[in-house]
Amino acid sequence: MFSVLPFLLFLSYISAAIVAESPAYSPPDLFFFNCGASSSKQPDDDGRTWESDDKFPKFMPANAADISLVSQPEEQGSNVPQVPYTTGVRIFQSNFTYSFPLSAGPKFIRLYFFPSQFNAKGLTFNKTESYFSVTANEHTLLTNFSAYLTAGVTNYPFVNKEYIVNVDEHQMLNITFAPSPNSYAFVNGIEIVSIPTGYYIRGDPAGANDNQIKWVPDNNNNYYYIYNNTAFETLYRLIVGGQTLLADNDTGMYRKWYSDDEYVIGYGYFTPHLDVKITYTELTPNYSAPEIVYTTSRTIANYSSAVNWTFAVDSGFLYLFRLYFCEFAIEIDGGNERVFSVEIANETAESHADVFLMAGGSKIPIFRDYLVNVRDNDGRRGKQNVSLAISPNMATRPVWANALLNGLEIFKLNDTQGSLAAANPDLISQPVQSPPPGKKKGGATVGAVVGGVCGGILVIAILGFLIFRQRRRRVANSAGSITKTTWDPLSVVPPSTHNTDGSGAPLPSQAAGVDGFPPGSPSFPLLGNGDSSTTTDNSEGVFSTSDEVAAMSTTSGTGTATTTTGIDRLQSHNVFSLLNHPEGR
Ligand SMILES: *[C@@H]1O[C@H](CO)[C@@H](O)[C@H](O)[C@H]1NC(C)=O
Ligand SMILES: *[C@@H]1O[C@H](CO)[C@@H](O)[C@H](O)[C@H]1NC(C)=O
Ligand SMILES: *[C@@H]1O[C@H](CO)[C@@H](O)[C@H](O)[C@H]1NC(C)=O
Ligand SMILES: *[C@@H]1O[C@H](CO)[C@@H](O)[C@H](O)[C@H]1NC(C)=O
Ligand SMILES: *[C@@H]1O[C@H](CO)[C@@H](O)[C@H](O)[C@H]1NC(C)=O
Repeated sequence: MFSVLPFLLFLSYISAAIVAESPAYSPPDLFFFNCGASSSKQPDDDGRTWESDDKFPKFMPANAADISLVSQPEEQGSNVPQVPYTTGVRIFQSNFTYSFPLSAGPKFIRLYFFPSQFNAKGLTFNKTESYFSVTANEHTLLTNFSAYLTAGVTNYPFVNKEYIVNVDEHQMLNITFAPSPNSYAFVNGIEIVSIPTGYYIRGDPAGANDNQIKWVPDNNNNYYYIYNNTAFETLYRLIVGGQTLLADNDTGMYRKWYSDDEYVIGYGYFTPHLDVKITYTELTPNYSAPEIVYTTSRTIANYSSAVNWTFAVDSGFLYLFRLYFCEFAIEIDGGNERVFSVEIANETAESHADVFLMAGGSKIPIFRDYLVNVRDNDGRRGKQNVSLAISPNMATRPVWANALLNGLEIFKLNDTQGSLAAANPDLISQPVQSPPPGKKKGGATVGAVVGGVCGGILVIAILGFLIFRQRRRRVANSAGSITKTTWDPLSVVPPSTHNTDGSGAPLPSQAAGVDGFPPGSPSFPLLGNGDSSTTTDNSEGVFSTSDEVAAMSTTSGTGTATTTTGIDRLQSHNVFSLLNHPEGR
């Protein structure tokens, strides 16, 4: 018994020490509104504290109580984070505008929706009957949006949306919810977080070439520029080859970096991670992405010739692809060692990516922006799959036949009408018959009471467990390793088309953070079994070009018996492959 207290103190000491290490960026505007919640200051699973919007009447119309209703969802899905989804809801039967006084500059707007039945003031609101539009100043974020239909095509019974909108000097940020005819609107949570000026919305080049964005395919050396009047919707933000990070582990913008496991195709990759220090630069500031994004990667496996991903996006919009790179492999200490091409939507975005040269050295992070026009072929603005591929380019005879990607963001840009809205997903999957996981509340009062009591006890137990887990996780994350967050959604907007039935990658990078080894996944029977004869064989095959490389292979090949060679093996056997023979491509 007495040993528990010191242990808890120890834990809080650790988490305090980690919290004290202030994030790279501290946003001047930071709002976490738990809309319609009856109790204030509730923490979520990601380390944020949410306040009921009722506490801020000045951000709402004076007659807010007359033109909106507050309630709580009647459902509590088993895998729905409580805050802000199930702790409250604000329902609108007519237009309703929140007006936020903010500093000038770009902001993240994050909206949280949990489609459920709501009861308020004797009225019943059916989740299938809610369609509404949302605007943010002059931008349309959603039109005739159904959270119910949107969630129906994902694995999650809730929807969260992230947008970037610039707020001008002396301007309010007005967010308006407008129900479709004979319908109602609702929202469970609104989050607003400032973004460093010039980070996503980069403006006019004014002589600096850094702000010009390359078209894919190349448009005769014409470039694209993103100005203050452009709004974005984040579709994907991925820590490539890694495990989902808590929003709290971001650089201060509370961005959630999701695992890319669901979007990578096939098995032709490795997921190296190294716990090394990287050097941020003026062009790639420390708030750009957490260090672990840059020190975690996906590279090409042995017998494969590319790493491929696929992403569902809405047709009829321009997309900004931001790719994050960092050459952290210890073998690579010069240019022309790992050179690769990047293709987006089957078109070349980069033909000779040499991250070492682009960044100006090893362990220096960079990011690159590409603009892709996803045409609307049938005028329906339906979903379309866009591919991303990295593959070795051996034209300049680089030392290694490999490629690298560390992080990825995909943003939809507003159309010429200032809108980001797309069609609701079709109802073909009949979500009415089989609603997404989530308990339907029956009419059994006794059951509800018993459930409530038991649930209360369970919640306390779970809370304790979560707090404990979260602390542990923070410690683990700060130590540079990767930990799995099992209850999180895997994407900002889970696409309708991805594989979720296990036919995709079998959690390939699950073990990646533990000791720096890539996974012992079934598709790589020779990896991760520590068999030294296998390792020796590989070392002969893998290193074949130069004396320097051959010497390295000898070192790692003979060192496999000792424990310190984990990283060596990772570096020399798993990251690189036989493909450095041109005929292997
Ligand atoms: C864009 O917005 C930023 C932040 O408010 C401001 O500093 C900048 O001057 C604006 N640029 C233009 C061209 O209006
Ligand atoms: C926001 O709403 C306020 C109050 O209704 C209005 O005065 C202001 O002009 C609006 N601002 C914008 C940018 O729409
Ligand atoms: C809203 O969307 C639903 C389903 O996608 C559709 O049936 C309805 O006609 C739409 N309403 C409007 C006003 O566009
Ligand atoms: C790479 O593939 C070849 C041929 O399939 C195999 O012999 C070799 O052991 C593999 N190496 C690794 C590291 O998986
Ligand atoms: C790219 O090519 C693949 C297969 O060759 C195809 O399925 C896909 O639709 C193409 N288009 C885009 C935009 O990725």
